[in-house]
Amino acid sequence: MQQTILVTGATGTVGREVVKQLSMLDGIRVRAGVHSVIKGENLRRLPDVEVVEMEFEDPDSLHAAFTHADKVFLVTPFSEGQVEMARKLVDEAKRRGVKHIVKLSALGVGDEDMIQLFRWHREIEHYIEQSGIPYTFLRPSAFMQNFENYSAPTIKSEGKIYLPVGDGKVAYIDARDIAAVAIAALTSDGHESKIYDLTGPEAITVGEVAATISLVTGRQVDYVDVPEQAARQGMQQQEMPDWMIHALLELYGQHRAGSSDVVTSSVEELTGRKPHTFRQYVKEYQECFV
Ligand SMILES: NC(=O)c1ccc[n+]([C@@H]2O[C@H](COP(=O)([O-])OP(=O)(O)OC[C@H]3O[C@@H](n4cnc5c(N)ncnc54)[C@H](OP(=O)(O)O)[C@@H]3O)[C@@H](O)[C@H]2O)c1
Repeated sequence: MQQTILVTGATGTVGREVVKQLSMLDGIRVRAGVHSVIKGENLRRLPDVEVVEMEFEDPDSLHAAFTHADKVFLVTPFSEGQVEMARKLVDEAKRRGVKHIVKLSALGVGDEDMIQLFRWHREIEHYIEQSGIPYTFLRPSAFMQNFENYSAPTIKSEGKIYLPVGDGKVAYIDARDIAAVAIAALTSDGHESKIYDLTGPEAITVGEVAATISLVTGRQVDYVDVPEQAARQGMQQQEMPDWMIHALLELYGQHRAGSSDVVTSSVEELTGRKPHTFRQYVKEYQECFV
């Protein structure tokens, strides 16, 4: 019998890859939960993908999205309201008899002395554990796609990446590899109550990120290590809310301190394929940087 898998945040960096990869499998009906219908238009062209409008704050939209859903890939946005949003999603999943939740969390969640962002994720994880619904938690490192999502404008206009992370190394992961692990967890047995720490194959500095983009695109890109106070002022000038500035600076502080200099072998163990290197990622997405 065809099973239905609901993907929340389906137009996001990881969600859209999960939808794409699930749509290539037989016997699965993919329900893409999209916040903005316009952004979700591309997903309609994929085989066996049903697009539903989903507003995490709106119970009626959750009710419709979870109807007959067997499993859920659960993404909540980077938001100070994410715990409340996730609680609503988990409550609805419980009411609808969902059999498995695969939650996108973050590397570092569960450590001692967690930063705010990780405390929020842990609260959500805990809520899922308490719900009694079988679960798998994916805890990825920072995404390679952050450079295309957030740094591309200054890379294109000035050939610069501005970040306050010093020479801290991070094992950036390609969102496609996170999606591949999500597919394994959603479609094969043995992943219940498991927590997977997911990283790319190598920990690199942002200086090395810039050098790789330069090498692959042939256009000089430099890293500018921004002092924390200047980074704070820059974010205030962009009118970011205080909670977001605080959360980002805490995260960057961890990168700077080397807390994200961790490489795991989980992607290969779970998918049978080596994770993409940063160089491979830039080669495939170089149009984003020129
Ligand atoms: N970026 C990283 O390096 C990193 C690393 C580790 C973990 N994570 C975690 O990954 C998660 C984010 O994943 P992502 O980067 O794939 O997401 P994303 O690209 O930020 O996309 C978020 C998705 O959620 C949707 N959304 C936002 N508000 C919504 C609402 N009120 N109701 C329904 N849908 C809503 C968005 O739709 P619209 O765009 O239409 O609003 C979008 O599809 C966060 O929990 C973050 O902590 C990120």
